[in-house]
Amino acid sequence: MTPAATVEGAFARRFGRPPVFVVRAPGRVNLIGEHTDYNAGFVLPMAIDRWVTIALAPRAARTVSVASLEFEESTEFGLADLGPRGSGWAHYVKGTAWALTEAGHTLSGWEGVLSGDVPMGAGLSSSAAFEMAVARAFASVSGIAWDPVAMALAAQRAENAWVGVGCGIMDQLISGCGRAGHAMLLDCRSLEGRAVPLPTGSVVAVLDTATRRALAHSGYNERRGECEAAAAAFGVAALRDVSVQELPALVARVGPVVARRARHVVTENQRTLDAAAALEGGDPEAMGALMDASHASLRDDFEVSTPAIDAMVTAARETAGCFGARMTGGGFGGCVVALLEARAVEEFQKGVAARYRSETGLEPRLYVCRATDGAEVL
Ligand code: GLA
Repeated sequence: MTPAATVEGAFARRFGRPPVFVVRAPGRVNLIGEHTDYNAGFVLPMAIDRWVTIALAPRAARTVSVASLEFEESTEFGLADLGPRGSGWAHYVKGTAWALTEAGHTLSGWEGVLSGDVPMGAGLSSSAAFEMAVARAFASVSGIAWDPVAMALAAQRAENAWVGVGCGIMDQLISGCGRAGHAMLLDCRSLEGRAVPLPTGSVVAVLDTATRRALAHSGYNERRGECEAAAAAFGVAALRDVSVQELPALVARVGPVVARRARHVVTENQRTLDAAAALEGGDPEAMGALMDASHASLRDDFEVSTPAIDAMVTAARETAGCFGARMTGGGFGGCVVALLEARAVEEFQKGVAARYRSETGLEPRLYVCRATDGAEVL
């Protein structure tokens, strides 16, 4: 059964009528441009064919009642009083309601059933998909015109200020702005995007290390702080404002750790622009080489990789049919993204799983991903 049919059926059983809307928002995989979004830089993610899907109908009361199929729980709250802030799936619903209200929208009530198949904690942005699906639900029942960029900003605000997780804008933006068959080159300063086609004959695979993101929260905040310190020492608003050519002269002003962090961000921004050009030129080899270089930079300069991630990247690179591979998302566990030759996919999957298993003793999960559209009403 499709996720849409599943939530529609569950809605009918729970509320005794068919839903009025079915909405969904995708997770994402970032092809390149890691830890650049909060430095006002460039990212090149794609929305993937894994979603948070909600079947819903408006309610006369300004209350929300929603059940999660995966968590086997429901929550009900009034829009006039959202109660205390917190974490957990229900707080993502409330936090999104809070952020949309703060953005000046008058929200209507609804009842619904939600379900998601974005792996959680894997670095594929299950929480951004969740927030954007909830935003799409509120927009549908409240008659709010759907502006993906404005909605992404509200969803990010929910995550930062309500749930209390520091993140940049990439995940919510791509969940809102994804385009089928394309990656999106997103400028995280102007919030403008350009759709970039994926080269024919190649596919994107996500290789889940089966390790979860330990220490991700504190490590992420520490890296953000180091990037801000570098920008301040260089006298710029953000590391986006430093070019690869200027970097050597500037790094003398900071200590070795902050210099390495800055070098990652500045070179990664350039790699991301080069990667968009490689995809537009239909050159998967050039794209793969940039992904490899990105991984080395994240491992050695930004230091957000782990032994399991490095083992997966090595397994991918040593298996035939792989143009390039790198860690994806915040790091400290989670997934690797690889660009593969389409005709080699089956052999690749078998080969990489065997290598990773024998190297680590862990059972990997591999997904070939299609690039999909952003948050939508079905
Ligand atoms: C997490 C954050 C994003 C981004 C990435 C690193 O996924 O949510 O905003 O900073 O890490 O590129």
